[in-house]
Amino acid sequence: MKAIVRETYGPPDVLHLEQVTLPTLGDGDVLVKVHAASANAGDWHLLRGTPFPFRLVAGLRTPRFTIIGTDIAGHVEAVGRKVSQFRPGDVVFGELSRCGFGAYAEFAAAPEKALALKPANLSFEEAATLPTAGCTALQGLRKGRVQRAHRVLLNGASGGVGTFAVQIAKSFGTEVTAVCSTRNVDMVRSIGADHVIDYTKDDFATQGRRYDLILATNGDRSIWDYRRALTADGCYAMTGGSNRQLTEALLFGPLLSVGRQQFGNVLVKPNQSDLLVLKELCESGRMRPVIDRRFLLSEVPAAVRYVEAGHARGKVVVTM
Ligand SMILES: NC(=O)c1ccc[n+]([C@@H]2O[C@H](COP(=O)([O-])OP(=O)(O)OC[C@H]3O[C@@H](n4cnc5c(N)ncnc54)[C@H](OP(=O)(O)O)[C@@H]3O)[C@@H](O)[C@H]2O)c1
Repeated sequence: MKAIVRETYGPPDVLHLEQVTLPTLGDGDVLVKVHAASANAGDWHLLRGTPFPFRLVAGLRTPRFTIIGTDIAGHVEAVGRKVSQFRPGDVVFGELSRCGFGAYAEFAAAPEKALALKPANLSFEEAATLPTAGCTALQGLRKGRVQRAHRVLLNGASGGVGTFAVQIAKSFGTEVTAVCSTRNVDMVRSIGADHVIDYTKDDFATQGRRYDLILATNGDRSIWDYRRALTADGCYAMTGGSNRQLTEALLFGPLLSVGRQQFGNVLVKPNQSDLLVLKELCESGRMRPVIDRRFLLSEVPAAVRYVEAGHARGKVVVTM
């Protein structure tokens, strides 16, 4: 099969298209013929081996995972003898970070728990956008104890995670204020945001409005700014953004959570039951992926470079 392979840590230039053997199929594994994959910020972290803690999992000096990429959609080519949920011909989507990555290839093997049946109303490209970003948005909102009628602020609303977070937060019956730059204002409004703050012109932290839940999916704001915009018993959940945003949530989050306000960070754990929640949200018409750009398998280096630049509008897709 054709796959995008690397032997060393480094920039997207270390990636190249090669002919490799098919992945081995264990008894509990499903072999998927990949029709589409999607790119995530995690790709370039894994590619470069930065920040350093990534290397504790991915190999200190030499990367253990030669084919990167986490999110796939495709059809089942073959199943191991202990697989009970899927059979050849089923159309599926799934997430591979817990089984060695490998999305940027014509075939991928995954345990059945990493997969779910593809939402019937989505294309393979659309379905491939869901796993990492959709689970991150869902788990971030849950961490913020999302509830009906909550006033929710989403920073980074125009990115892969943010565009799902806007739609999932709306599906919970909340009032969503999305923070993004000028060029994305209309897009985030079109996916359901009730209010939009253009961060190039206005500052959510000084407007005097308070939110029950703040989800920071991107951005570079201090935890004290977020705290100022929280209600007295509000929750702040951080899933992504700058190193400062990450470090402050880790260091100060537990200290600031001694009172009624809660501050925490979220490391996504994609799983089958959340994939099924995302599928249901799409099939019921409450969520639709926003696709920014499409790349071919041979163009994965350009796709990763584009995501690394940090200005994707929704998701970036790779087609086989
Ligand atoms: N915790 C986890 O397990 C987990 C899982 C997935 C992702 N992540 C992290 O979450 C972050 C976002 O992921 P993603 O997939 O959504 O990334 P993404 O799609 O690459 O995010 C790009 C978007 O962020 C917006 N943005 C950039 N700077 C901003 C700022 N200062 N304020 C507000 N918006 C800004 C950009 O809009 P403009 O171009 O208009 O600025 C762009 O639309 C990344 O840091 C990623 O590493 C964490």
